[in-house]
Amino acid sequence: MQIFKEKEALQTAVSKLKSEGKTLGLVPTMGALHEGHLSLVTNAEKICDQVVVSIFVNPTQFNNPQDLEKYPRGLQKDLDLLETVDPDVWVFAPMASELYGEKVVSEKFEFGNLAEVMEGKFRAGHFDGVGTVVKMLFEIIKPHKAFFGQKDFQQLQIIRKLTEDQKLPVEVIGCPILREPNGLARSSRNELLNPNQRESASFIHETLLKSRDLFGTKSVNYITDWVNAQFKDHPVLKLEYFEIAEADTLKKINKKREGQNYRAFIAAYAGEVRLIDNLALN
Ligand code: PAF
Repeated sequence: MQIFKEKEALQTAVSKLKSEGKTLGLVPTMGALHEGHLSLVTNAEKICDQVVVSIFVNPTQFNNPQDLEKYPRGLQKDLDLLETVDPDVWVFAPMASELYGEKVVSEKFEFGNLAEVMEGKFRAGHFDGVGTVVKMLFEIIKPHKAFFGQKDFQQLQIIRKLTEDQKLPVEVIGCPILREPNGLARSSRNELLNPNQRESASFIHETLLKSRDLFGTKSVNYITDWVNAQFKDHPVLKLEYFEIAEADTLKKINKKREGQNYRAFIAAYAGEVRLIDNLALN
C-alpha cells in the first residue's frame, strides 16, 4: 500500500503508471470505510490495473456543522481494512489545504433539476460541495474510471452530469448498494446508530420493497400516502421525504409512463442520524 498526502507525489506515480500503459480506477470516499466501500474497491480492481482510494472528509458538502463534526473518522482503521482487499492499493489522504488552498469554499454548478430535488432540497449547497471536491479529485488524479455506490443515487447522477458538462475524461461507474443482514443500506453513518436504531432502520428498506410491490398496481399518490402513513407513528424513525422519480432525470412523477425506469427514494432520521436509501421499482 502507498499513502499519498500530497498531490504532486501522487501525480508523479500516476504519470509513471500511465506511461506503462496501465489503467487507473478511483474510489472517492470520506473514510469510515465499510463493506460498501470495499466492494467498490473490489469492482475497481477487476477492471483497472491500479486502484486509488481517496479519503477526505469534504467540509464544503456538509450543510450542517454538527454533522461534519460528528462524521466518523479513523484513518488507521480504514488503511487496515483496505489492506484486506487490496494490499497494493494507493491511498490519497490530503489535508483540506492541499485540495482547497486557503479558501475552503464550493464552486457553483448548474446541475438543474438533479440538484433541486430530494437531497438538494433538504441540504442546501450539498451538491456544489460534492461537485467541487469530485472535480478536484478528477483533475488531480486523472483516473480512467471512477466508482460510486448507488446508495447515493442522486449524487451518482450529478457526478455523471458534472463529467459530461465539464468534459472530464472519466468513466463514471455506479455500483450496487451493499446491505447489512437486516437490509439496512451500508453507510458510514450506521456507526452512529445505537443497537435499537440500527435494528429499527431495516424498516427503510422494507418500506422500499413494499413500495416496489405496490408500484405494479397502485398509483404514485397512493404509494406516497401509504409510505407516509407507515412512518407516521414509527417509534424510532422520522421520515424526511419519500419520492418516486424517473431514474435518469430524478423528475418527480405523478403518472407512470411505458418504457421509463423509476426509483423510489427515502430519507429518514433515526435520532440525530440521517439515513438515505433507494430502490429500482421496475
Ligand atoms: O459519497 C461520498 O462519500 C462523498 O460524497 C464523495 C463522493 C467522496 C465526495 O466527498
